Amino acid sequence: MSRGCMKQKNPFFLKEYSIDEPYCGRNEEQKDLGDYARELKHTVLYSPRRTGKTALIKRVQKTLSQEGAVCIYVDFFGVVSVDDIAVRLAQAVFAETRSRETLFRRAVKAIECFRPITDNNPLQSEKQADTGVELAQGQVSGMDLLESVLRSLGKFIYESSELVHFALDEFQEITTLAKAEQIETLLHDHIHRHAAAYTFIGSRRTVLCRMFTTASRPFFQEAVLVELPGVPAGKMASFIARQFASQGKICDPEIAEQLVSAVSCFPYYCRKLACIVFEYSHNEVTAEDVENGISLLLMYEEPFFEGVFLGLAPGQIALLRAIAREPVKSIFAKDFLRRHRLGSIGGAQGARKKMVMLDMIEFRQQKWWIVDPVLEQWLVKNRVHAC
Ligand SMILES: Nc1ncnc2c1ncn2[C@@H]1O[C@H](COP(=O)(O)OP(=O)(O)OP(=O)(O)O)[C@@H](O)[C@H]1O
Ligand SMILES: [Mg+2]
Repeated sequence: MSRGCMKQKNPFFLKEYSIDEPYCGRNEEQKDLGDYARELKHTVLYSPRRTGKTALIKRVQKTLSQEGAVCIYVDFFGVVSVDDIAVRLAQAVFAETRSRETLFRRAVKAIECFRPITDNNPLQSEKQADTGVELAQGQVSGMDLLESVLRSLGKFIYESSELVHFALDEFQEITTLAKAEQIETLLHDHIHRHAAAYTFIGSRRTVLCRMFTTASRPFFQEAVLVELPGVPAGKMASFIARQFASQGKICDPEIAEQLVSAVSCFPYYCRKLACIVFEYSHNEVTAEDVENGISLLLMYEEPFFEGVFLGLAPGQIALLRAIAREPVKSIFAKDFLRRHRLGSIGGAQGARKKMVMLDMIEFRQQKWWIVDPVLEQWLVKNRVHAC
């Protein structure tokens, strides 16, 4: 509970990103991605987790929609099968078009293999209502179903006079599925022929970028690679100070900078830490409020980190812990392996490969580092047991 004035409303959201959230900068990236889409150029938008890709593409799509484009957002996070890809694509098209009658009719006509079903909750507006899909009678499944949906999308795009833009978020997740190679080839064969702009988004940078930079892969050189840079720290600090001020709290520029640098300016953590600090500070934010906020942030994130660790092998956890405590030039240096009890070079090689693939570690400024700055602090502070 706030110890400050009860009427002050916390300006920082804790929920999933909403387009109505206060937003800091990124005008240039927004313009570039919009321009690529207008030119029907495909793009790959990549950066570490929690750095603002989804928020950015949603804003890009909002602008394009205001210009009349049809913007379809599909999230492949947690995708489990080829049928699931087909469902998500069809569902996203119906959800986007359902409030525009002519478009919706066109979508329903084009996507024959699925029928939209709407969960009409009286508390939700028409735009918010959930749109599900059910398989039309006599329809196929697996690769045939995906092929049918992709063909239908082609028809829908062909019949649309408007620009059609697809954002495929966490696109690299398709590589985790059985028949991944076939799926990638099929998606490419159709997307290549679609007169639409696609943005492929992902946080597992190595996996995603390899799809577009490996000569033997279908999507090779099919898209412009756009690495999302960090928001400049000064800009983020001013933004945060302004949000505090908008609710009558004082957050001096120095304190705002301290807050931002404590989480290496990762937008998700800036927002969450600012939210916590706002909640627990008096009318003027102090350095101590930020320090306390960091402790709480680490505590709040703990279940998430523990969840991630459940899927890791002991050797991988040990490597993360070692790198957090001692960023290093060579993981395979004998001293480093010995000091952190990482076992054999072979084991460490396997762990490094997996951690790079999951985008949990990266090599920058001549050293290996943990990608997520809060995970790094948590690993340093906590005795994480590798086994
Ligand atoms: N430019 C920004 N200004 C203010 N807040 C931002 C900005 N960008 C992102 N955020 C905040 O950070 C949160 C995380 O952003 P977002 O979900 O877009 O990251 P992401 O890169 O897509 O993460 P993930 O890879 O985990 O999906 C958002 O909910 C939003 O509140
Ligand atoms: Mg995202």
